[in-house]
Amino acid sequence: MVSNADLTDAQQSFQTLKAWMESRIIGQDVLIERMLTALLADGHLLVEGAPGLAKTRAINVLSQGIEADFHRIQFTPDLLPADLTGTDIYRPQDGSFEFQPGPLFHNLVLADEINRSPAKVQSALLEAMAERQITVGRETYPLPALFMVMATQNPLEHEGTYPLPEAQLDRFMLFLRIAYPEPRHERAILKLARDEVRDPPVTDAKPIGQTTLFAARQQVADVYMADALEEYLVQLILATRNPGIFAEELGGWLQYGASPRATIALDRAARARAWLKGRQYVAPEDIQTLAPDILRHRLILTYTAEAEGITADQCIQELLRRVAVP
Ligand SMILES: Nc1ncnc2c1ncn2[C@@H]1O[C@H](COP(=O)(O)OP(=O)(O)O)[C@@H](O)[C@H]1O
Ligand SMILES: [Mg+2]
Repeated sequence: MVSNADLTDAQQSFQTLKAWMESRIIGQDVLIERMLTALLADGHLLVEGAPGLAKTRAINVLSQGIEADFHRIQFTPDLLPADLTGTDIYRPQDGSFEFQPGPLFHNLVLADEINRSPAKVQSALLEAMAERQITVGRETYPLPALFMVMATQNPLEHEGTYPLPEAQLDRFMLFLRIAYPEPRHERAILKLARDEVRDPPVTDAKPIGQTTLFAARQQVADVYMADALEEYLVQLILATRNPGIFAEELGGWLQYGASPRATIALDRAARARAWLKGRQYVAPEDIQTLAPDILRHRLILTYTAEAEGITADQCIQELLRRVAVP
């Protein structure tokens, strides 16, 4: 463990925020770490899990810990793209049109149950995420400098859901799957819920200001990555495109590998994770831990793989076993 004295002010603020979040969201430490990683790496996050696993709650809690304006959008089957982006409103006084910004014009956007809306609405969101601007009519409006989308979805088996467009999924830096908390945490969740009925929680931690957040991002950009690790990261991504050289069966499972967007995302996320852990350098563990969440939504499997019940996660584990760690 790194001693507190070695941490920068921004690192200490994030340690405090993380500890506070862990006290409010029990037993979902990976989720909390990934939310903070995405925030520090300027990426968007998609979280998939069964209902009732505190997905919405987690994002609400994070938004209370940061000085930023927050908006939750509940995705429903009848939502329209303009409900997200905003639209030109006619002004009868002078016959002009005025742009009425939609809910995407916030710093932190919770896109809740994103797979309950059809593809057109999902695309409007994914485009805004990639371009950080919104075009309505002939005008283009920039989104705020701090703009992060955290989306949730229920597993696709659920009735009445629309799968996200595969080709655009890589707008999400990280795609995390969460599971039920361990049995030992269930009582703590119960106790917390009871306590919160008695005393509605007050924010004890001072929210992190945007100046601190941007300073933190600057420090993340300066985190050191050794040449050998950079090579390892690149080899991992290249392996997704050319898996047959590692193992014959892998070649038959992966149809498309990850794009350079994945390379950049893995680099940024690994630095952010290292920084969160109080290190000034990336360790192989940062890359290995994040690779599944960076890659699982960017790989397209072959029909053979699907027929054999092979998942993207299995392919990623196989690649992690086979690409040599420096
Ligand atoms: N790990 C947890 N820590 C604290 N509370 C939890 C946890 N998991 C579930 N809960 C409780 O369950 C409720 C449901 O959470 P919610 O965020 O609405 O779930 P989801 O969005 O995943 O469907 C929360 O309000 C909270 O009271
Ligand atoms: Mg929810």
